[in-house]
Amino acid sequence: MAKGQIVSKVLAVFAIVVVAGILGSIIALTTSYVEERKNHPLTTLPPPITTPSPDAPCFNPWDESRLPDSLIPSGYSVTLWPSLKPNDEDMFTFKGNSTVVFKCEKKTDLIVIHSRLLNLTTKGKHLADVRDVSSSKSVDIQYSCLDTSNEFLVVQLRSNLTEGKTYEMITDFTGELSDDLVGFYRSEYMEGGDKKLVATTQMQPTYARTVFPCFDEPAMKAHFNITLIHDPNLVALSNSPVIDSVNRTFGKAEWGITTFHPTPDMSTYLLAFIVCDFKNIHALNRNVSIRIWARPEAIAEQQGDYALNITGPILQYFEDYYSIPYPLAKSDQIALPDFSAGAMENWGLVTYRETALLYNPNISSTSNKEWVATVIAHELAHQWFGNLVTVRWWNDLWLNEGFATYVSYLGADHAEPSWNIKDLIVLHHYQKVFAVDALNSSHPLSLDEEEISTPLQIGNLFDSITYSKGAAVLRMLSGFLTENLFVGGLKTYLEQYKYNTTVYQDLWDHLQQTVNKQDNITLPDSVENIMNRWVLQMGFPVVTINTTTGTLTQKHFLLDPSAEVTRSSQFNYTWFVPVSWMKSGILQTDFWLLNTSETNTTVKSNSTDWVLANINCTGYYRVNYDTENWNRLLQQLQDNFTVRYIPTTLALHTTKYLSKDKEYMPWESAIDNLGYFSLMFDRTEVNGPMQTYLRKQVTPLFDYFENITANWTEVPSGHTDQYNQVTAIEVACENGLKKCQELASRLYREWMDNPSVNPIHPNLKTTIYCNAIAAGGVEEWDFAWERFQNASITTEADKLRYGLSCSKHIWILNRYLKYTLDPEKIRKMDSIPTINYISRNVVGQSLVWDFIRAYSTTICSGSSPMDSLLEGVTQRFSTELELKQLQQFRPSNDITEDCLSTRTLSQAIERTQLNIKWINENKDPVFNWFTSNSL
Ligand SMILES: *[C@@H]1O[C@H](CO)[C@@H](O)[C@H](O)[C@H]1NC(C)=O
Ligand SMILES: *[C@@H]1O[C@H](CO)[C@@H](O)[C@H](O)[C@H]1NC(C)=O
Ligand SMILES: *[C@@H]1O[C@H](CO)[C@@H](O)[C@H](O)[C@H]1NC(C)=O
Ligand SMILES: *[C@@H]1O[C@H](CO)[C@@H](O)[C@H](O)[C@H]1NC(C)=O
Ligand SMILES: *[C@@H]1O[C@H](CO)[C@@H](O)[C@H](O)[C@H]1NC(C)=O
Ligand SMILES: *[C@@H]1O[C@H](CO)[C@@H](O)[C@H](O)[C@H]1NC(C)=O
Ligand SMILES: [Zn+2]
Repeated sequence: MAKGQIVSKVLAVFAIVVVAGILGSIIALTTSYVEERKNHPLTTLPPPITTPSPDAPCFNPWDESRLPDSLIPSGYSVTLWPSLKPNDEDMFTFKGNSTVVFKCEKKTDLIVIHSRLLNLTTKGKHLADVRDVSSSKSVDIQYSCLDTSNEFLVVQLRSNLTEGKTYEMITDFTGELSDDLVGFYRSEYMEGGDKKLVATTQMQPTYARTVFPCFDEPAMKAHFNITLIHDPNLVALSNSPVIDSVNRTFGKAEWGITTFHPTPDMSTYLLAFIVCDFKNIHALNRNVSIRIWARPEAIAEQQGDYALNITGPILQYFEDYYSIPYPLAKSDQIALPDFSAGAMENWGLVTYRETALLYNPNISSTSNKEWVATVIAHELAHQWFGNLVTVRWWNDLWLNEGFATYVSYLGADHAEPSWNIKDLIVLHHYQKVFAVDALNSSHPLSLDEEEISTPLQIGNLFDSITYSKGAAVLRMLSGFLTENLFVGGLKTYLEQYKYNTTVYQDLWDHLQQTVNKQDNITLPDSVENIMNRWVLQMGFPVVTINTTTGTLTQKHFLLDPSAEVTRSSQFNYTWFVPVSWMKSGILQTDFWLLNTSETNTTVKSNSTDWVLANINCTGYYRVNYDTENWNRLLQQLQDNFTVRYIPTTLALHTTKYLSKDKEYMPWESAIDNLGYFSLMFDRTEVNGPMQTYLRKQVTPLFDYFENITANWTEVPSGHTDQYNQVTAIEVACENGLKKCQELASRLYREWMDNPSVNPIHPNLKTTIYCNAIAAGGVEEWDFAWERFQNASITTEADKLRYGLSCSKHIWILNRYLKYTLDPEKIRKMDSIPTINYISRNVVGQSLVWDFIRAYSTTICSGSSPMDSLLEGVTQRFSTELELKQLQQFRPSNDITEDCLSTRTLSQAIERTQLNIKWINENKDPVFNWFTSNSL
């Protein structure tokens, strides 16, 4: 899941970033252990502790974040009993017990297993019981304790375990069913005036250990026999199908006991347990039972139908793509009212935010639908790549997430062939990640295993480099190998490592073997040597093609070219660059640029032929040309609109041709680039001429859509035409086109006058709500707020929640900001995105900055770290004062690394410095350019 700033564009596509893990919700580690350690030098043995409590000092001879390799689990039997009624202390809890069976691989007298935030309640004087499985005899324990700093339960034995023998450890425990959206947590929703509760889980990356003691590392695969105890009127779900569900009376109450089939060997982070009163719709696909679960009301309103319709085709697509049948007997997908990420690929029980699974054709927009299709495809892709074959450690997360992100476009394209969705990967992923990867404070895709060991370090990996750059370099690899060959290597890789774990080099090996079997492909070097340069170096090259001399050069692209690169690279920041290209519209033979400078006379061009390289942005790099070629390309754009490749570097010049253009890709691409201009200048005098210019450019597009949609009463039929209609309104209204603002206010007023009939087409709601609220006052705002609170469809609630951030009134925005801290008003999962929406608003951004500083303690105590908030609020930062405040942010607010990663902070500081520099250099020319071009 990429973190990311929230942009208003096509809300559902851009607003919630592609997410399949969690937004790195890391809870503060206690520091008390460090203090205690000083009093316990490792050389002296501690006295046996007989009545351990979680706060007692704990002598752990194994002082590391990673588990020792002496014990390897083979299976667990876990019973969990969540209580959806608060107990005496007003707390929601769960009870449980677990038996883990493990083999002793190396003689040891120490059991170290993950456990965090659990109260261990095992009878007897120790926190666990250990037994020899073959003899059923107990193993004597010297002492047991909790190493809270490393999140371990430590059991020191009185004798060594025997190598090769199998043991089991039994624990009883209780835990809190919190509302923190991680571990075993509760989610709430209203139905028929009643508050309903759901117990559900989010284990990735390191929360399984908060649900039961376990060897919580991805390589420690084992089978799980799960039992859930629950209100007999509720359903219980887990990764596997149900064996049976019986009712028993304990005490006075009757309980349902649901037992599940053993899972295949799998990683702990893919487990899921849910107790809820949801309903499902189902279908059978090649003998696999597919079910879509959601709130009863949502199912009754058929909001799950679309997901059910496309799941079968997408599963079939991946079965054929990977040449391996779906590995499980069932596939459940469930939409949860509270969910921190976008979705989570738990094996056989995928969890989603409602907006990522549910779709209502009458209320949701086209982009909502596209979001559902791509997220489902992403999660289902993981059922093989990630779940069946798992990367051994989190440092290779990029392979897992980059791959799923890449193939999610293939899967969604299969389900919706008319959408041409494969092109959109460039818009959704490349521009954003280029902006991060062009910073000196970026990082390589792959980090050493040793660099990633704590939960905090693991959580920080869920960023746009991992997701978007990961997808981009794999797409490039598939591009130069051909998709056919890529899939060939992939199949043998999956076949060899199923139910097991790998490192990314294993995939390169399989691709290499496939390449070696082919005669018709020549690579300049091995797959591994080519890919190492993309995977082990941060950043990307800009390739400059001089069509006059025929020279090609490559250079590490940095937003600040004068900066010293602080991170060294064994490859000196040169890449092996695959170059696809065309000359005057005719595709030419691909070639490789292997050195910093090379001559290739074929790229020489005469006075009329233009050269264009990196067709479809298959390569993860940027291209620059000599001025003559740029001019020929621009001429081409002006003359002939069917050649469709816009060089993004010519941001301003390319926008001159937009007024003739009606297509989405060039518009969206240009608007993305212009977004930066608008962030930098919307608080300056450049804003006037910039708006005048954009108004002029967008008017023909606005008129065009007004015309073909019978005055906005219909929508165009094409998928991307529908998006561009939204873009037309967005750009027109934002830049003050009067008839656009009138349109927004008129439609919204009609709705206020008759709230039971919303006259606004679903596709247009996001932008119409926003612009009507921006133009309106408290009456418009309060109306939307009331609709928001009563919205039963989450996509609708999300659009309103965004629209509410568009007000131009400071006091209204301030009030709204306060609401984000109240979970009764704004769900926890929506709190940070909402604050980010407000900071996108030029009126709101300084309010948000003050707010973050004033409430940093509250924000840091929540389960979400401040990273995405800081990324959002600093987008516009471009003054010396802002830079100074940012540099003082951590010390003057006591913000810990747990709440805000140093990497995010240094990226924000670097970006601010670059913005200041960029404005200094460009403000005058940009002002002049807009002034002279807005006539
Ligand atoms: C899980 O159940 C299977 C099938 O009943 C059984 O063979 C296995 O031993 C069980 N595993 C554990 C850890 O109890
Ligand atoms: C786990 O708890 C359940 C419910 O209380 C109980 O039936 C079961 O025997 C327990 N298992 C163990 C191994 O203690
Ligand atoms: C286990 O074996 C190691 C190495 O042989 C030894 O140092 C240690 O004292 C043994 N532990 C116990 C509890 O006997
Ligand atoms: C765990 O134990 C602590 C200290 O005794 C107590 O405050 C807390 O409520 C317990 N939590 C649960 C979930 O039982
Ligand atoms: C268990 O109890 C529930 C609620 O009373 C009932 O609907 C269900 O049919 C019962 N299940 C069994 C297996 O008896
Ligand atoms: C699901 O498929 C059915 C049958 O093809 C179709 O009638 C229905 O409109 C589809 N629903 C959605 C929401 O796409
Ligand atoms: Zn994913």
